Amino acid sequence: VTLLLTGVADRGGAAIDPAGLDPANLLAVKAEGRSVARAQGGVPGLHGARFLAQSQPHILLEAASTNFEDAEPGWTYAREALDRGADLVLASKGALVLHYAALTETAQKRRRDLRFAATVGAPLPVLEMADRVLIGVEITGFEGVLNATTNQVLTSMSGGASYEEGVSEAQALGIAETDPTLDVDGWDAAAKAAIVANAILGASLNLRDVRREGIRQVSSQALREARLAGETIKLIARAVRRDGTVVASVAPERRPLADVLGALRGDQMGVVFFTEPLGRVATTVEHTGGIPTALTVLRDVINVARARGWTSAGE
Ligand SMILES: NC(=O)c1ccc[n+]([C@@H]2O[C@H](COP(=O)([O-])OP(=O)(O)OC[C@H]3O[C@@H](n4cnc5c(N)ncnc54)[C@H](OP(=O)(O)O)[C@@H]3O)[C@@H](O)[C@H]2O)c1
Repeated sequence: VTLLLTGVADRGGAAIDPAGLDPANLLAVKAEGRSVARAQGGVPGLHGARFLAQSQPHILLEAASTNFEDAEPGWTYAREALDRGADLVLASKGALVLHYAALTETAQKRRRDLRFAATVGAPLPVLEMADRVLIGVEITGFEGVLNATTNQVLTSMSGGASYEEGVSEAQALGIAETDPTLDVDGWDAAAKAAIVANAILGASLNLRDVRREGIRQVSSQALREARLAGETIKLIARAVRRDGTVVASVAPERRPLADVLGALRGDQMGVVFFTEPLGRVATTVEHTGGIPTALTVLRDVINVARARGWTSAGE
């Protein structure tokens, strides 16, 4: 499949070229801390519907900052792209946790493809495992380590660091944001639990439906005690179907060090599906972060192209 980048937007505006933008030029401009509006094809202040009208994408990649308050700007871009007949690949989670039903119904009504593998622990193949590998198998729930920042902090703390040192280390490694609140208070993991539960368990959970506890209360002492017992503490995101309803939660839990999730260190992530009749089916990844996330978005884009028959091999 040949990809043509016809438009790209940031806070300052957009760059547009129907013949295809040069990614190297865009990267160079962003590396200097400037807006893409200053790159070749740049248009300061160009946003939203006008941006979509000028760039005319077949696929919109929505990767603006995640916003759990009102899901913007992603929600408006997503709706407008679907209205314009574009397929949608999301990296940001806001629209998925605040407007899941409306988003999926609109995509279905417009017969557009909607993919969001990067939102749930990229590059972990959570949705693809459920959709492709476990097809024909009953999935009754899942649990996972789906947030890299908290796993890095807990890993540092189990090595003897304090909570504050753990956070600083995660920031120095480029894993944690300057403001790690959404991670350490469990919001990011709760969003992922809701998205996966909605996508694979047929739930209709909102972010607030997920019982949530972060890692601020986990002490170095508790981690030391766990270690003496051959265990550790992990922030576990879980959703299970019980009596016809889906219950989701995020909380720190003691896990055996030898367990699939207990063994995950640093920014590694993993998920375990509870299935009938296969039992527990797990997948883990060793490297997360920016490039693996970009590769996950690319994976979705290629799968959209396959589904549309745009690849030379088709599907
Ligand atoms: N980084 C990861 O490892 C990872 C993993 C999985 C999912 N994600 C998700 O992927 C998305 C992007 O991640 P990131 O780390 O690159 O986030 P980020 O550092 O917050 O950058 C987001 C980009 O969105 C742009 N943006 C923000 N508000 C905008 C607006 N109103 N209009 C147009 N552009 C706007 C920013 O523009 P400026 O450059 O002008 O500020 C920036 O380029 C986020 O939603 C994140 O949750 C990230």
